[in-house]
Amino acid sequence: MCGIIAVIQKKGQVAPFLHQALKRLEYRGYDSVGITTISEDQLFTKKDKGKIDEVHKKLNLDNLPGSIGIGHTRWATHGIPSLYNSHPHFDCYEKIAVVHNGVIDNFLELRKKLLKKGHTFGSETDTEVIPHMIEDEMKSGSSLKEAIKNVTERIEGTYAIVAMSIHEPDKIICTRNGNPLVIGKKEGTSYVSSDIPAFLPMTNSMILLLDGEIATLTTDDVRIEKLSDGSVIERDTIKISWTASQAQKGGFPHFMLKEIHEQPDAIKQTLRIRPEMFVKAANTIQEANRVYFLAMGTSGHSAMAGRYMFASSSGIVPSFELASDFTDIMYDSISEDDCIIAITQSGETTDTITSVKYAKEHGAKIIAITNVVGSSITRIADHTIITQAGPEIGVAATKTLMVQLAALAQLSIHTGQITEFRTNEFLMRMRENLEEVPDKISNIIAIEEEKARRLARIYYNKPSFLFLGRGISISTAFEGALKLKEISYNHAEGYSAGESKHGPIALVEKGYPVIFVAPKDSTHGRIIGNVMEMKSRGAEIISVIEESDSDLLELSDHAFQIPSGIRHEFSPMAYVVPLQLFSYYMARRNGYDPDKPRNLAKSVTVL
Ligand code: AGP
Repeated sequence: MCGIIAVIQKKGQVAPFLHQALKRLEYRGYDSVGITTISEDQLFTKKDKGKIDEVHKKLNLDNLPGSIGIGHTRWATHGIPSLYNSHPHFDCYEKIAVVHNGVIDNFLELRKKLLKKGHTFGSETDTEVIPHMIEDEMKSGSSLKEAIKNVTERIEGTYAIVAMSIHEPDKIICTRNGNPLVIGKKEGTSYVSSDIPAFLPMTNSMILLLDGEIATLTTDDVRIEKLSDGSVIERDTIKISWTASQAQKGGFPHFMLKEIHEQPDAIKQTLRIRPEMFVKAANTIQEANRVYFLAMGTSGHSAMAGRYMFASSSGIVPSFELASDFTDIMYDSISEDDCIIAITQSGETTDTITSVKYAKEHGAKIIAITNVVGSSITRIADHTIITQAGPEIGVAATKTLMVQLAALAQLSIHTGQITEFRTNEFLMRMRENLEEVPDKISNIIAIEEEKARRLARIYYNKPSFLFLGRGISISTAFEGALKLKEISYNHAEGYSAGESKHGPIALVEKGYPVIFVAPKDSTHGRIIGNVMEMKSRGAEIISVIEESDSDLLELSDHAFQIPSGIRHEFSPMAYVVPLQLFSYYMARRNGYDPDKPRNLAKSVTVL
């Protein structure tokens, strides 16, 4: 997920606008930034690693000549954050400038062909193959638009591409497949961006660009054509009523709610990770004597669920230890025969980094699952799996939990292929089931969000909650309780339902809310017993159940219903969603800002 902006106007410098537009897109990525303009048949560029303000302070992004330009703020998916990996990228002669958002799956093959033709590359990104391919096409006589059209026929993957060239300095060309681009228009000026906030202060007149379309922007005109047959598309302008702040959140009131809604897409992107990224890690796991998950907070809840995924698909049952206490429990027994799977969305959590360094010093192999390319954990790990959630702005982890579970599911299946604990048929069915999860989550959000809002109005002032689950759902119960307490400040405890009668049930009195996470898996019969125990002591039962579960529906005061057909190993991905929504609406009903909960930071970089 990156931020793209481009503009062409009749006169005056565009650089100051591009700089401010990138600031409004910073929530889409912030590990490097760049601007290129055209003036007097030359490209002028300022770009570097770092947040926009840091790079501006160093280079002065406003000071570039020209009334046509493109800009980009990066969220790295290939190639670490650095000057040479920052966009825009160029052809060999620096006559063509390109910015891109997405993932080009076949970039290695394209890069090899270009290198054989004598092209020289300045970065390790997938993006850089695009300007070099355009260069070849234009050398053969194509216009910039025709060149880009031909290039899109040879790249595989998702992209939003915006390009300009000193050969045709009076236009910007853009096209998309799976990643967003919107066009803005006002008298004498045309804009194109990843998202509306970039140009909203300048115009609220927007034109949608759809997948498989290519647009030519000049100062006076926007021409949209179909890539497939070149036919011209007449598309009406849409008037945007949002404020710039609302637009940054996609019209949602808070980033957290936007990020809950982004979860299906984030999973889909993570399911596109190339298999070879998992195979090496899976071999390391299979060869290890002992396997430990190390993580904190929500990432620890991913680890708790990951244990069941691995147990089911590979026969390997990793341990999970809180990273903050790992060195205390190991008494230096960790060795080169052991393997650590570190889960950390930020890649910077000091507890996790410290314990991983300790394990590495003792010779253990390190696998990292993180959402941030170039983060500290990636520089320690032997193998890194980069999840594809894009930047998560809300302090409470939602979509990053989801992509961690999606990555763990894939890693466990790849490990199962090596251990042969299951048949390939079994593992294939697991993978097929996993592919169905994103759409089921979309349904859950669509159907259950209103119920979450309604229950928040009933329970917002309850001082204490129990979240209970069995088996893999213990992780979901823990996560639901964490979400509630960290953004709505109602006390909440996640517990094993089996454990609840060994103490926590003493909390229960008439009207006490107990939330059960109860998919129809092997624990279902026992969880019914737990529900009845709580109910008989006056608890109010809120349950998250499978849609066909009439037994638990009858026993519950309120129930969130989850579509059937989700394998129990992946049930946390679906069953946690109503709890995320419930905690969000509880926080709002209590008048708190879900994006900025008190006392918390997005990344805990202290021991
Ligand atoms: C989760 O909502 C919290 N923000 C927190 O528990 C977080 O999961 C924890 O600090 C771990 O962060 P990490 O994944 O970046 O390591």
